[in-house]
Amino acid sequence: MKRFLRRFLVFIASVLTISAQAQNLPSGNGTAGSATPDWENPAILGINKLPYHATLQLPSKWKECKEIVSLDGEWQFHWSRNPEERQVEFYREDYDVSNWKRIKVPGNWQTQGFGTPIYTNIDYPFKRNRPSVTSEPPRDWTAYENRNPVGSYVTFVNVTKEMLSQNLILHFGGVHSAFYVWVNGHKVGYSQNSMSPAEFDVTKYVREGKNKLAVEVYRWCDGSYLEDQDMWRLSGIFREVQLWVRPLVHIADYRVTAVPDKNFTQANVTADIAICNTADKSAKKMKAVLNIDGNTIVGQLKNLAAGDTTHIRLTYRINHPRLWSAEKPNLYPFSIELMDKKGNVAEHFDYHLGVKRVECVGEVFKINGKNVKLRGVNRHDHHPLTGRYVDDATYEQDIRLMKQANINFLRTSHYPDREYLYELCDRWGLYVMDEANQESHGYGYANEEMGHDAAWRDAHVDRAESLVKRDYNHPCVILWSLGNEGGVGPNIQAMYDKVCQLDSTRLPFYDCHPRYSALHDFGYPPPEVLKREAEKETEKPLIAREYAHAMGNSMGNLQEYWDVIYADSSIAGAAIWDWVDQGLVKKENGVEYFAYGGDYGDKPNLDAFCINGLLAPDRKPHPHYYEVQHVYQPLSFELHDNRLRIVNRDFFTDVSEYDIVCDTTVIDGERLLNVSARLKEDRPWAKKGFVVASDQFVLSPYDFPEAVKTADKVAAKRVTIDGNNLVSWIVDGLEMLQAPLEPYFWKPENDNQHAAGFARHSAVWKEVTDVTVRYTIINDHSILVELDYHPSGTDKPLLPKLGMRMRLPADFTSIEYFGRGPWENYPDRKRSAFLGRYKMPLSEFETEYVHPQDNGCRTDVRWFCITNGKKTLRIDGLQPLCIRAWDYGEENLEGIRHPHEIQRGRFVNLNIDLNIHGVGGVDSWGQPTLPQYTIDGNQPYHLGFILDWH
Ligand code: GAL
Ligand code: MG
Repeated sequence: MKRFLRRFLVFIASVLTISAQAQNLPSGNGTAGSATPDWENPAILGINKLPYHATLQLPSKWKECKEIVSLDGEWQFHWSRNPEERQVEFYREDYDVSNWKRIKVPGNWQTQGFGTPIYTNIDYPFKRNRPSVTSEPPRDWTAYENRNPVGSYVTFVNVTKEMLSQNLILHFGGVHSAFYVWVNGHKVGYSQNSMSPAEFDVTKYVREGKNKLAVEVYRWCDGSYLEDQDMWRLSGIFREVQLWVRPLVHIADYRVTAVPDKNFTQANVTADIAICNTADKSAKKMKAVLNIDGNTIVGQLKNLAAGDTTHIRLTYRINHPRLWSAEKPNLYPFSIELMDKKGNVAEHFDYHLGVKRVECVGEVFKINGKNVKLRGVNRHDHHPLTGRYVDDATYEQDIRLMKQANINFLRTSHYPDREYLYELCDRWGLYVMDEANQESHGYGYANEEMGHDAAWRDAHVDRAESLVKRDYNHPCVILWSLGNEGGVGPNIQAMYDKVCQLDSTRLPFYDCHPRYSALHDFGYPPPEVLKREAEKETEKPLIAREYAHAMGNSMGNLQEYWDVIYADSSIAGAAIWDWVDQGLVKKENGVEYFAYGGDYGDKPNLDAFCINGLLAPDRKPHPHYYEVQHVYQPLSFELHDNRLRIVNRDFFTDVSEYDIVCDTTVIDGERLLNVSARLKEDRPWAKKGFVVASDQFVLSPYDFPEAVKTADKVAAKRVTIDGNNLVSWIVDGLEMLQAPLEPYFWKPENDNQHAAGFARHSAVWKEVTDVTVRYTIINDHSILVELDYHPSGTDKPLLPKLGMRMRLPADFTSIEYFGRGPWENYPDRKRSAFLGRYKMPLSEFETEYVHPQDNGCRTDVRWFCITNGKKTLRIDGLQPLCIRAWDYGEENLEGIRHPHEIQRGRFVNLNIDLNIHGVGGVDSWGQPTLPQYTIDGNQPYHLGFILDWH
């Protein structure tokens, strides 16, 4: 009885939930007869979608391809905050949308003024309750009010009479996150899997003249459970929309594989071509053609019945192939054609292939038989104005800047990018880890919930299949990644099996478990941990798919990583997290700034954790970009007994392919040798003469001045000293100090230090102790300053910096110095900054970070001058100095969110130090700066410098 009652109650409960859902349900939304909307049903991945296939035409040729009609442009748009309030019947032909707003396609709606961008990392932006995305979240979440925003799009497409006799295919490059399509009031289909193309055959719905195309996009769908990447959550039709006007018999897909033999003396090319017949009669005597290398390979097709698809394989052999690599991106252009029985070309597509081999031989990763090191970076598809839509010019800029930084490996974290990016990587030479759009991090790293739940198997596999099928023909792809921070279990196994079944010439990769991966991933290890792990590794090559978290002012100890990576043949390489700060341009009260999590009132959000790039959002390189360029350079130089030794880390490029230039300069007695390797010829990404690698050697060292001990009593009258502080200094009747020169050990934190609890450990240093400063007045314009630190105990925390601070009048804004530069450098990030004499305004001496923090240091400074045009202060170190100069104070930098909030221009703040704590370079969630780049508080130090006014 009891049991019966319980069952009965369960039954009632489920009836209640179903009817409650049914009431809220937007009409016409579920598949026939079902109460669950398609977009909350993991079994429905698409309706009437055409099969995935390879990109048929090289993206750079899309504009000139006569089969492609672009539908990009301004569309009519309506936004509603939830499905219930959407315009249900807008797809009907008699529904007037003329008074709707306009929106740019491709684009995201949040970057065009509709709805709220949300930046979240691990937390799902909606209430986690799969497959529902509309359950009630906490009240203060953005998704509480805007439960699942819907964007309704309308455009009109002109169709000519000739087009009507062809096969018409509607192509969407990417729509976030799920959408329905109608043509002239007829429902065409549905799709999710937002970073891959979706195509629909619309032939039967179109008519001559004006056609109404209606698209209804849902911000979230069940697929969003697999799209929990750490990024801005943006929506809409964000990639190209095209109408393909195709012959009734056409090429549905083709895959070209080029496999070199064991010794790379020959390559076997196979073109597998699928041809389908959409006509209502059979097609006879058609031919498939492969044009390559001046040869034409023709295959006769069998009689192809109406509605059928046939497959044909054409083969070709390349003798002595020029191999493809990131260093030498040798391509063989080819075309695939379909000919009708009269010999007319019905279809023609251009592409290119590259001959290469990617393999793991035991624990060694090899490309073309060589233990190539992947000098990598991760990149999100992000633009500060257009969000998830990144235009061609920005793609070119990104790939150019990567090539110039000696990056040879790109991970398309964490989903497939737009097709053009892969073409650039093919042409300019970058190894690519192409990643499936699969992350369920909200259930935990390597979670079993999503990895095991059979209801989500197809959804996982769909993402692997769409990845490989689209990008198969790009030579740049070396690894297929199953996703990032997702599940483990049979669903991932199924993805793995799918990838292996589709392609045996590239390797599968997964971060969450080596069982699904040809390489073993180890993310964010400190250098010595990487070393240890690699030594333990015996089965597979090791890779750090992410390392060197480039948040804010960071990227210290990069060379330490590469010393480890080069020394161990089992390490395939590592990829920096990540390429570009994901800031969005926001305008507020007339000021524009780069917004991050929380700036739109978005909740949940993870603040500035999306600002981790080598570049600012507008692609301006940060100082650490140049450090990457230096550490990643393929050549390194050593000087032994006046002989230069060049170490070449590349395998397919000879040193003789560069001009090696040696330059000796003498600056104030210090002899420096600057060596560089320059391009002998123009490349698509740099001009002839571009410096690919460089280094500097000190031939005869700088002669630092010695402490003068004779004081001038008369001059001393114009100087006021109070304890350790120099509080006033009158020169030619003018007060030169706006605030005293004082011992000062504090520095504001950078993001890494903040995460490592630096302030907590080192806050005692906001008060200086155990210090004596001695001032020796040399004459009426020079003073010798000597600081001595003698710790009184043995348990002092690390010193943020060791030195002094002073404030000058605000008009001291021109700087010239001899030290490392021109860009910002710190003890753990200074290899790219060579010694030199540099001149710049104060505004360039500082570095503006999207999230303001400590910045602008120059190390190994011999002397430093700052002037207002009338008076110049010169600082001469008795040993190398670290100097920072800002037109604001430490207190103005701390606790604010954006650069425009810094209160500036009331004085010049000058820090003159013996040493400063390094920026750190492992992660931004707790790892400290490497010990060799910190300052032990339990040792004595001595700092000396001379101040001189003239
Ligand atoms: C990684 C993750 C990235 C990003 C990074 C931190 O673990 O794969 O997507 O979240 O951490 O910025
Ligand atoms: Mg994540």
